[in-house]
Amino acid sequence: MAEVKKVKLRVPATTANMGPGFDSLGCALSLYNYFTFEKTENGVEILGCDDEYCTKENLAYQGYEAAMKYMGLPVGGVKITVESNIPICRGLGSSAAMIVAGAEAANVLNGKKMSPEDILAVCNDIEGHPDNLAPAIYGGMTVSMMDGRTPHTVSYILSPELHFCALIPDFETSTNDARKVLPKRVDYADALFNITRAGILLKALENGDIDLVCLGVEDKLHQPYRKKLIHEYDDVHNICKQQEGVAFFISGSGSTCMCISKEKNFADKLDGKFDGLTKNWKALQLSPDREGVKILEVV
Ligand code: HSE
Repeated sequence: MAEVKKVKLRVPATTANMGPGFDSLGCALSLYNYFTFEKTENGVEILGCDDEYCTKENLAYQGYEAAMKYMGLPVGGVKITVESNIPICRGLGSSAAMIVAGAEAANVLNGKKMSPEDILAVCNDIEGHPDNLAPAIYGGMTVSMMDGRTPHTVSYILSPELHFCALIPDFETSTNDARKVLPKRVDYADALFNITRAGILLKALENGDIDLVCLGVEDKLHQPYRKKLIHEYDDVHNICKQQEGVAFFISGSGSTCMCISKEKNFADKLDGKFDGLTKNWKALQLSPDREGVKILEVV
């Protein structure tokens, strides 16, 4: 087999938690970052990111390096070009997309020695939770769990009748900060509240039962603590809930909020509704991505 010197790939944005599924549920969405990875003699060159991210701390490089080490290969030189469309630090899986791109690129450039499960495990060692990583790798809607340091993921069916609309403000939230506001212990009744809803939600998403999705998407484990980090959360929530049949949740750790509805163009219904707010909220209609990380070209 001819040696692969360069690979182009795309990785989808992802929404995680999806209400009651903290650190577990996730879904890939039709918004993509594009990457080219090219083997070079030595050193690391990164193009397409702000200067502060063009270092070995870059998550695409981190994913690449971790996968090379996992395969027992010298890391060597690499040139990485990034075309970034997923907004950073907004709860749409931009970090996961970068890490997955690096690990998958290393895999393709070196004879595809790693399975998707290997890629997930390597990426999770960097990210720390698999809920964005799994859909970025597999596509579709996934449920993940950790068994010690090993992630396990299953895929669920998502009804084609359901559509996503991301509400993206102009401010970032840090996942670290959003994890710090969570309590160390949860109330038994709150755990019960979430467990019962998570199971209902998955079936309702499969069946396209939007009324049950609206009920199942409720959460008591993270959103009550995090909404205070999201400026104008109550306003945006109220605007969306004035519409019929809209499930609303914080995407990942925010700042984006996500709606699920049966409206193909729910974003149009929100036209002008955020004009009185200050955080420049944009409604972006998205569909589920069913492919996950995708190789576009190898040279
Ligand atoms: N499950 C993670 C969290 C997603 O809510 O902290 C953010 O990356």
